[in-house]
Amino acid sequence: MDDFRGKWLDLVAAADSEAALEEVRLQALGKKGEIALRMRELGQMSPEERMTVAPALNALRDEVAAAIIAKKQAFQDAALDERLRAEWLDVTLPVRPRRQGSIHPITQVTEEVTQIFAAMGYAVAEGPQVEDDWHNFDALNIAPEHPARQEHDTFYMARAQGDNRAPHVLRTHTSPVQIRAMQGQGAPLRVICPGRVFRADYDQTHSPMFHQVEGLAIDRDITMANLKWTLEEFLKAFFEVPSVDLRFRASHFPFTEPSAEVDVRCSWENGTLKLGEGDSWLEILGSGMVHPKVLQAGGIDPNEWQGFAFGMGIDRIAMLKYGIPDLRAFFESDLRWLRHYGFGALEVPTLAGGL
Ligand code: PHE
Repeated sequence: MDDFRGKWLDLVAAADSEAALEEVRLQALGKKGEIALRMRELGQMSPEERMTVAPALNALRDEVAAAIIAKKQAFQDAALDERLRAEWLDVTLPVRPRRQGSIHPITQVTEEVTQIFAAMGYAVAEGPQVEDDWHNFDALNIAPEHPARQEHDTFYMARAQGDNRAPHVLRTHTSPVQIRAMQGQGAPLRVICPGRVFRADYDQTHSPMFHQVEGLAIDRDITMANLKWTLEEFLKAFFEVPSVDLRFRASHFPFTEPSAEVDVRCSWENGTLKLGEGDSWLEILGSGMVHPKVLQAGGIDPNEWQGFAFGMGIDRIAMLKYGIPDLRAFFESDLRWLRHYGFGALEVPTLAGGL
């Protein structure tokens, strides 16, 4: 019995990993392990023999089990020690001295716009960038043969050959989010929808991917006057000027009636833009009163509700505010450009941060 005991304690001591130890445990204490087999033999012994062998065997089994547990604990402690040695982190280290990354001006400006409209009670709504043509066109009163479909230089997604359903598109504007917000939330409604849009166009002022922010306010008695006030408040806050002068030019969008393009009075002195004064006008956005058919498509009763909508280029107002000359540079990921025009990564991008 002593030999037997010694053999198992030696094997436990020799196990050099948790896996090896588990192997020993199975061989000794498992259902078909040697100790279990010995236990089974007790049945064939005489009562006297059993009286001595049984307690010894029980004690041996407990001793081996305890040795295995202790050894297992030792392995786990060692593993934890190793992790603590390897995974330490000195939280008292100073931050990296050199700025490693920066907030892209588009992110910064999107955040500024969101903050200003949030203060006026607008929530942010979102929609997919790969949009179905119903949301991007039909629901916005742009019929299939309408020239706007061509004017928008739409990117169409491919369909499998033989699949004759209308293809999805990369959304050409943020206006489809108007529809999704109306469908999802109903009236009354106040949302802005910032995001990426896509058109097949590329030069100094056009990029195939750019950013818009849509605004939509629906209530029982919203008018163009509310639109004008809202845009004035926004532009004053965004460009940090005490007053702005807006010009509403009659225009046409299928999804608004009446429609207006909005210009803001400005001056250019030595290439620097000043808003609110001067003899020049800068076109800044498209807008109008939401067309009854669009309300209907959004599931809102045009006899009860009306509203205004506008769409503005985020890249454009970012260029104007921060004096960035070429739109294409926004999306070239040139580190020197990002270091120059970017905002500190550790400053949370806020309106105040951008001042
Ligand atoms: N969706 C229009 C565009 O991309 C802008 C717009 C939005 C006009 C909402 C009116 C109302 O040109």
